Parts: sequence; C-alpha cells; structure tokens
Amino acid sequence: MLNYKDETDFDTIKGRLKSDSLNEKIMNGYNSSESTNLKNLFNENGTDKATIHNYHFLYDSLFRVHKDNKINVLEIGVYEGGSLKTWKEYFKLANIIGIDIDPETIFSDDRIQTFVSDQNSQDYLRQTAHNINRNFDVVIDDGWHQPEAAVNTLVTFLPRLNIGGFYVIEDLNLMHYQLFYTELAKLISSKKNFAAAVIDIDALFQVKSLKGSVVLLAHRLPN
Ligand SMILES: C[S@@+](CC[C@H](N)C(=O)[O-])C[C@H]1O[C@@H](n2cnc3c(N)ncnc32)[C@H](O)[C@@H]1O
Repeated sequence: MLNYKDETDFDTIKGRLKSDSLNEKIMNGYNSSESTNLKNLFNENGTDKATIHNYHFLYDSLFRVHKDNKINVLEIGVYEGGSLKTWKEYFKLANIIGIDIDPETIFSDDRIQTFVSDQNSQDYLRQTAHNINRNFDVVIDDGWHQPEAAVNTLVTFLPRLNIGGFYVIEDLNLMHYQLFYTELAKLISSKKNFAAAVIDIDALFQVKSLKGSVVLLAHRLPN
C-alpha cells in the first residue's frame, strides 16, 4: 500500500490541487437535494455509482453546469448500460458515447452510441478515438481499472478534452497506486492548463463507501 507521505509524484499532483483549490470549488457547488436526483437516476438505471460508491456527490457538483448544454460525454466501461442511460437523462441535450471491450455490451439509443475497444491497446484506442471523431466535455474511465489501461486511455483522450471539461478516473483503490501515480504525474507535468486532484469522496463529503477515491482532471482556460 502506498505511503502518501513518501510519494513525491503524488505530492506533485497534490500541489496542483492546492493551488487550484479544486476541493473548495467542489464543496461550494455541492447541494445535497440536487445530488439526490442524480443518485436516484443512477439507482433506477442499475449502475452502482451511488450504492457501492458515492460518486453522485462529486458528479452533480461538477457536471450540473452542463445539464442543459449540448455536450459530448464519454464513459469507458459500458457493462449493462446503466451509467450511459443515466447520463442521457441527466444531460438533456448531450451525445453519450460508451466504449467497452465486450461486444455483448454494445447498444445504441437516441443520443447514445457505443464502440468496442480495448484499454490495454493504445493503437486500438487511438483508432477508436479517430472513428468517434469528437472532442469531449466529460470523460469517465470506469473500465479495466488497472494503471496501464488508465494511462493508455488518458494519453488517448486527454488531448480530446474541451476547455472547461472534466476527466475522471474512478475506483482508484483498485489500482497499483505507485506505478499509476508515477505515470500520471509524468503526463500531467507537461499539461499546464490542467488541474489535477486525487479526491477521496468519502472524506470530502463525510460519507462511507467501499471504493471512494477518484482522480479528477479539469481542463482550464490557458493562463
Ligand atoms: C464496472 S463495469 C462498467 C460499469 C458501468 N460504467 C456502469 O456504471 O454501469 C466495467 C466494464 O469495463 C469493461 N472492460 C474491462 N476491461 C476492459 C478493457 N480492457 N477495455 C475496455 N473495457 C473494458 C468490462 O467489459 C465492463 O463492462
């Protein structure tokens, strides 16, 4: 298990968080009654984002501004489609794109499209990104949850994140922390207009869940 105090790469990321006060922004935007609506949508659509996890707190506070905007949302990890269907209901005008390695998860619906790809192959991901041919305002990585896969996905889709957009990597505690943070810090250090944070949702919102931490990257306006 990683000892945060001895991990310089993690400190680099934390330093960015301090200067950007991302935590504060999230807390300021937090409104429990509205996040309950998102929680209900998650539960009705059969994703575990508000049962095993407490991600509705974070997601509602970040994404609320985009609820009525014509944005593009990408989630890696389709499974039974519960989160994609939620995003379609939550973001009234958005195009929702899903990626999964399992062809059986593939489906389409009004404003939802899904693609087969493999997070373990950067070439495959690059080809998929080319086929999708969009930039995104929200990207959520809820796929393979291994550091190499997360980094491959980040390398492919971070350049496609619009200004003002958010990139979230879920379920950090499933990762081998050290390798992941080393790679992440390398990637972020060259991206001056991105704020990066490792967020312990449970600590931040004083709730309890099984897998509470995420990495959040926010694409800000150029300095
Ligand atoms: C946790 S489930 C996704 C749950 C979904 N986002 C939800 O909230 O309802 C993880 C998904 O990742 C997919 N997956 C596993 N390995 C993958 C890989 N290498 N590339 C892309 N998808 C992968 C699995 O097939 C599975 O459907």
